[in-house]
Amino acid sequence: MQKKVTKIGVMTSGGDSPGMNAAIRAVVRTSIYNGLEVYGIMRGYAGLIDNDIFQMDSRSVANIIQRGGTILKTSRSEDFMTPEGRQVAYDNLKEKGINGLVIIGGDGSFKGAQVFSNEFDIPCIGLPGTIDKDIAGTDKTIGFDTAVNTAVEAIDKIRDTMDAHDRLFIVEVMGRDAGYIALHSGIATGAENIVIPETKTDIEELIASLSEKEKRKKLVNLVVVAEGGEFGDANALDAIIRKRIPNAETRVCILGHIQRGGSPSCEDRLIASHMGYYAVESLILGRYNVMVGVVNNKICYTPLDKAVKEKQKIGLEWMKIVKILAS
Ligand code: F6P
Repeated sequence: MQKKVTKIGVMTSGGDSPGMNAAIRAVVRTSIYNGLEVYGIMRGYAGLIDNDIFQMDSRSVANIIQRGGTILKTSRSEDFMTPEGRQVAYDNLKEKGINGLVIIGGDGSFKGAQVFSNEFDIPCIGLPGTIDKDIAGTDKTIGFDTAVNTAVEAIDKIRDTMDAHDRLFIVEVMGRDAGYIALHSGIATGAENIVIPETKTDIEELIASLSEKEKRKKLVNLVVVAEGGEFGDANALDAIIRKRIPNAETRVCILGHIQRGGSPSCEDRLIASHMGYYAVESLILGRYNVMVGVVNNKICYTPLDKAVKEKQKIGLEWMKIVKILAS
């Protein structure tokens, strides 16, 4: 593997997350501070293959730290999964002399980076940018804090209606394979039940707890379910509940993509800025093919293959606490 990085490419890949712009800004300005050239790659790996690559300067990232989405746009590229696609991507980088990459995205994006860096002599650094918070080697991911606060704000509003009408609400939050948004937003909004993909839910116990509350006229009940829950989506769970508790007046609300957008929270701007800075420093120091993460509030580095293979472990003792607090 070649050693000295002089031209850095930066891209965002996979689902967008609030704070990606702050991370791009940090990568661009830290690169320029260190005398390196920096290039923006549009639409993630797709732009790498299409040669949609442009040189950035300090001004290219002015006035973006507070903006959601990503100025570099993002996508999930099928072509990059093929050796032919990766060869074209490599040729495009070579032609511009780009010899280091920063990829801001989730585990799917890191898988691509890992394969790419194994095949070619391009050092890659991953920054965890996903609202799902489902990547090993970091306590925090760029976007989670904003997304979970968006969910909390929305559920608080729904609670007003729940309370006014004595209703049972089933609120679905994002997280195909990960229950962090459901767990955190559910705890923070006083949910009676939380359904996440990481644990088996005892449906009999869930029905019994809702029936018992109905009997003693605790009619305001909130179930927060991750979209990847074992019973299917929130509508599927609602159908089960309606069948078993016919008297309950239930409503379903699916929060959806509202959770992905919006101005990043202070926390997301901070971790994005911090991680972006250390991504460039890593490339300069020759610490390649790692993901920059935060563990116990300290920056740390995890080999990309480890970040790809494992998921962040969920603190399951919370599920017990939820039951006690919701009684
Ligand atoms: O990975 C982030 C995420 O928002 C998941 O929580 C969700 O399942 C998925 O992306 C939705 O993806 P898309 O925007 O492609 O429908």
